Amino acid sequence: MPREEPLLAPRHSSEHSSIRSEDEEDALLTGQRINRPEQQRGWAFWRQVGLFTWSLVATVAVIILAVLYQHSATTQPHGSDGLTWGPGGKPTGKRNVIFMVSDGMGPTSLSLTRSFRQLEQGLPIDDTLVIDQHQIGTSRTRSSSSLITDSAAGATAFSCGHKSYNGAISVLPNHTACGTVLEAAHLAGYKTGLVVTTRITDATPACFASHANRREYEDLIAEQEVGEHPLGRVVDLLLGGGRCHFLPQDADGGCRADDRDLTKVAEDKGFHYINDRDGFDGLALGQNAELPLLGLFAEKDIPFEIDRRQVNDVYPSLEEMARTALAALSKATEAGDKGFFIMIEGSRIDHAGHGNDPAAQVHEVLAYDRAFAAVLDFIDKEDTPTVLVSTSDHETGGLAVARQLHKSYPEYKWLPDVLAKASHSSEYLENKLNEYLGEAGAKNSLKNQRAYVREELLKKGLGIDDATDEEVDSLLTPDADQPPKYFFADMISRRAQVGWSTHGHSGADVNIYASSSKDVWPLLGNHENIEVGKFLASYLDLDVDAVTEKLSQQDSLSWLGDQLGANIRVDQLDSYHGDFRKRGEDCGCDNH
Ligand SMILES: *[C@@H]1O[C@H](CO)[C@@H](O)[C@H](O)[C@H]1NC(C)=O
Ligand SMILES: [Zn+2]
Repeated sequence: MPREEPLLAPRHSSEHSSIRSEDEEDALLTGQRINRPEQQRGWAFWRQVGLFTWSLVATVAVIILAVLYQHSATTQPHGSDGLTWGPGGKPTGKRNVIFMVSDGMGPTSLSLTRSFRQLEQGLPIDDTLVIDQHQIGTSRTRSSSSLITDSAAGATAFSCGHKSYNGAISVLPNHTACGTVLEAAHLAGYKTGLVVTTRITDATPACFASHANRREYEDLIAEQEVGEHPLGRVVDLLLGGGRCHFLPQDADGGCRADDRDLTKVAEDKGFHYINDRDGFDGLALGQNAELPLLGLFAEKDIPFEIDRRQVNDVYPSLEEMARTALAALSKATEAGDKGFFIMIEGSRIDHAGHGNDPAAQVHEVLAYDRAFAAVLDFIDKEDTPTVLVSTSDHETGGLAVARQLHKSYPEYKWLPDVLAKASHSSEYLENKLNEYLGEAGAKNSLKNQRAYVREELLKKGLGIDDATDEEVDSLLTPDADQPPKYFFADMISRRAQVGWSTHGHSGADVNIYASSSKDVWPLLGNHENIEVGKFLASYLDLDVDAVTEKLSQQDSLSWLGDQLGANIRVDQLDSYHGDFRKRGEDCGCDNH
């Protein structure tokens, strides 16, 4: 409270009048000063102390009641009986929840992308992304095992509403499965969907429709996603990449460790399976889609948006997949009295962060923003009340829109025009380089190789025409810890004066967005990530604990995969044991 004098300071408060109690209470509650006439100390002083005490008690009581009210409204597991829903109200009838995840997108990703777009499109300085206009809160992201979460623990917080350890796919720290909002929705009669731009078996989508002790068990995750799951098939629509985990090891484009063809298993279970752009186009943005539907459009990841837009005839965009999924789910639920739950992920914002590639990142964020706008558009036209909640599981890269390049004090600037000149991601350029060196290029003289790197990769791909000889040679003879893609990304980051503190994740808070702050009022302000998960279930009146109970009835825990020994940190934070000194000697830190 911005008071200029302490509440019980003897100087002035001992001279209170006794005839302005209402004003006084207001003042105590609002922190406003009020003018009061001078008076002698006496019974009035003690009356004043009494009044003050009363006001203080009343204020504290109001705060406690407010907290209790909000707590019960947001964490009530069953959501139905006696739940007092707050601002805006919650529809009691049919409704949909669209949950969007911007994997690895921190607040700085938005500053970066906003400025980039303003420059590239000549927009005014107050121009914002669509998503910027919908921020309602922030989320704290730590897991049970670390202050820096991974995507698995992050998504488990959303799907189950519980903290777990890094690597956990909707299992608790004691390696038992926790019921997810998607599973609960399925059991309650909702249609369900997952849309991603990475592997559909990657951690975020996996956490909604499967359970595993380690995120690496993608073969196992694929099996559960097509319906080899204790609850049977729980997802009605899956769109994304990761086809290789559904195909046998010997098949073209297969990467399973066994000989199973899960696309066949899926079809036996009733799935319509499509695996390319033609199949996708045949859905007519969802009008022709029939559920259940499995669409796998890449062996692993769908290319970064900066690259994908140049092969748009091969891979659908996140926006197209989102529109298609929403239309399909809307149509499939048209006649019934239950709506749908869908999770849509901008998966590769995170990958651009891991690669420290700012050019790839801005295009990933813009693609996410277009998908976000498409979802709002859907909500506008949809008859069934629908809410959109969007957040990130964590920040990736420790991105900074600042970078000190030299020992001398830096100028205050970063330069988005450098990013605007790039036409490809560092990942794409590394593939091109490897292709070149693996074929005819290897036989070329060093001089020709250098010319190729300068012209074809740096100039055409990144818009860099001032590379030093050292930089070019570093790309041709990379060391093991610094693959060419990291080097491409570093070259563009330095020129743009964009900074990164890690190739991994960071512990920064991330933003929460919603279609309407009235609908998603429990998430206003700063929250733990598990509160986001609890909101999703609560809004649909779902009981995830009942699903946990159902899952616990399996005869053994072997369906979750190996726990991989007791060495996995599950519920305690690490502490300092000398890594800085030990690793400082050979980390090459001076070069970064
Ligand atoms: C695992 O942990 C959860 C949450 O703490 C608890 O409810 C459950 O009983 C535990 N299960 C086992 C088998 O220990
Ligand atoms: Zn993530």
